[in-house]
Amino acid sequence: MKNLKNKVAVITGAGSGIGRALAKSLAAQGCRLALSDVNQAGLKATAADCAAVEVKIYALDVSDRDAIYAHAEQVAQDFGQVNLVINNAGVALSASVREMTDEDFKWVMDIDFWGVSHGTRAFLPHLIASGDGHVVNISSVFGLIGVPKQSAYNAAKFAVRGFTEALRQEMKLEKQPVSVSCVHPGGIRTNIANAARMGKSENIQALRKGFDKLAMTSPEKAAATILKGILKNESRILVGPDAWGIDAINRLLGSAYQPLVERFSRKNMYL
Ligand SMILES: NC(=O)c1ccc[n+]([C@@H]2O[C@H](COP(=O)([O-])OP(=O)(O)OC[C@H]3O[C@@H](n4cnc5c(N)ncnc54)[C@H](O)[C@@H]3O)[C@@H](O)[C@H]2O)c1
Repeated sequence: MKNLKNKVAVITGAGSGIGRALAKSLAAQGCRLALSDVNQAGLKATAADCAAVEVKIYALDVSDRDAIYAHAEQVAQDFGQVNLVINNAGVALSASVREMTDEDFKWVMDIDFWGVSHGTRAFLPHLIASGDGHVVNISSVFGLIGVPKQSAYNAAKFAVRGFTEALRQEMKLEKQPVSVSCVHPGGIRTNIANAARMGKSENIQALRKGFDKLAMTSPEKAAATILKGILKNESRILVGPDAWGIDAINRLLGSAYQPLVERFSRKNMYL
């Protein structure tokens, strides 16, 4: 996809953070937008910021498989085509493997992994039919390295990466007109930590403060990097200097990155 003008883009979780910034950036490129979220107030605010282009908003819970498939049909009907699908909606959980509940683990997997994979599979026939399609799945730097108290999020984001990288190869082997990118943001200053669930012994305030300190990239900058990556058809889009650093450490050290993360966590999380 060399040009986004008049293309139809679908963004889940568009009511806040990276999703909202992506919607605004795509609108500035002349994209037509199908925006969804569980947060209707946030979604309406995003749509108001994108009023220069055709924009429709949809109430969608990405953890509801049947709702995603119905949504894909609805968007295709409303816009007549679908070119770009950004599976962005996500949530976070901070809890150790020993402490987290099955319910919280499932909550993360249902949204962060199944939401992405259903969103991909539901829209894929429409992207192929468009003759010029692109799937963009939002993983994380936590899809590159394991981190204490992030096992559920790690599991979901590593799964997104594996699923997305396999899909990219399949699309090429099958000569389908669909590009595929996996996005690995570092810390982005959004609402994600405020909306996160916590294990019962976690200190919510300390965690949010720690996140605010570490999140070094604005959602607007993140959106600009993601759009650039889409237009260059990058398979892996790293967002923020911390993401580049983590990717480099991972490549250089392989599994020996783990003592570094332990040391960092001992200093910053377990005091
Ligand atoms: N902020 C970061 O530091 C960071 C880092 C790496 C990856 N990410 C990923 O980026 C994506 C966007 O997150 P963000 O940082 O913009 O967070 P955010 O909380 O600002 O936005 C997430 C949006 O997803 C929506 N959402 C939550 N559950 C949903 C559901 N079941 N169905 C539909 N929508 C739902 C929320 O209402 C919200 O509008 C997520 O996948 C997140 O995991 C974020």
